[in-house]
Amino acid sequence: MEIKKIAVLGAGQMGNGIAHVCAQAGYEVSMRDIDQKFVDKGMATIKKNLERGLKKERITQEELDTTLGRITGVLDLKEAVKDADLVIEAIPEIVNLKLDTWREVDESAPEHAILASNTSSISITQMAAVTKRPEKFIGMHFFNPVPVMGLVEIIKGQATTDDTVKVIKEVSHKVGKKTVLVNEAPGFAVNRLLVPAINEAIFAIQEGVATVEDMDLAIKLGLNWPMGPLTLADFVGLDTLLYISDYFVDEFKDGKYRAPALLRKMVRAGWVGRKSGMGFYDYSGETPEPNRF
Ligand code: CAA
Repeated sequence: MEIKKIAVLGAGQMGNGIAHVCAQAGYEVSMRDIDQKFVDKGMATIKKNLERGLKKERITQEELDTTLGRITGVLDLKEAVKDADLVIEAIPEIVNLKLDTWREVDESAPEHAILASNTSSISITQMAAVTKRPEKFIGMHFFNPVPVMGLVEIIKGQATTDDTVKVIKEVSHKVGKKTVLVNEAPGFAVNRLLVPAINEAIFAIQEGVATVEDMDLAIKLGLNWPMGPLTLADFVGLDTLLYISDYFVDEFKDGKYRAPALLRKMVRAGWVGRKSGMGFYDYSGETPEPNRF
């Protein structure tokens, strides 16, 4: 089966990155969000990120224009998916929102279309089960920033066929990513390790083991991570981390995955990291300033 047209649901951090790499690889893309301001913001981010490539002479002005020209911003879900060969969903990690969206997509997308979720932890099998095509349902987990990170985790649900896996592998390779195949389990492979590791750094901050900047420096230089765990927490979004931690506790029934109280308190305060301007660092000035806890 040949994929020509991809519908990306969600124009946020992940959605616009996915739309960007798909369009750059030559696919026609419809990028859908629920409000014009989200679509506009997503398009502006794609343009800004393409311009980075232009400045570094990795792409030409013509490639930039062609890539942008392949992306159509859409508000109506039916319109977005009606002639798609592949639908990639990157909407918020709220189970019922995802299930409702998939029911609607299943009604409107062509019968042959593959449905892929970019969820970072939610069960692929649970989402597949609300559609009439669970064999064509799959997890396609990208990493942030999508244009830079080289991996797609492919997650097989209970009914996902090998043919579906094959097509998604091909699409992932075409958009420039390497793939790993993971059987369904909460957090798949990467977040299974990443989320407890970041949480442990937050527990250490909560206990006064080190300051935010020292903990980040320790892990950056001591383990050669590109970003320290608290910078990374702000980058991923503290709301996302809290959501995944709570989901892990529910699914594994194991308290070892519990979220630190500090993380929960920060999310309640609206300190969800870079996107809100405040998290482990304060982003209101020229350079991020570490907060004290
Ligand atoms: N879009 C496009 N390109 C970007 C970009 C973006 N948003 N951010 C950075 N880049 C590009 C830069 O232009 C630069 O390109 P060149 O190499 O061509 O110069 C390159 O990436 C490196 O960027 P910088 O020099 O500005 O900064 P850096 O060296 O610190 O790298 C980083 C930035 C790539 C984000 C790096 O810090 C990094 O890899 N951090 C870790 C990111 C990570 O772990 N992501 C996974 C998060 S977990 C997740 O996403 C899954 C989940 O479910 C929670």
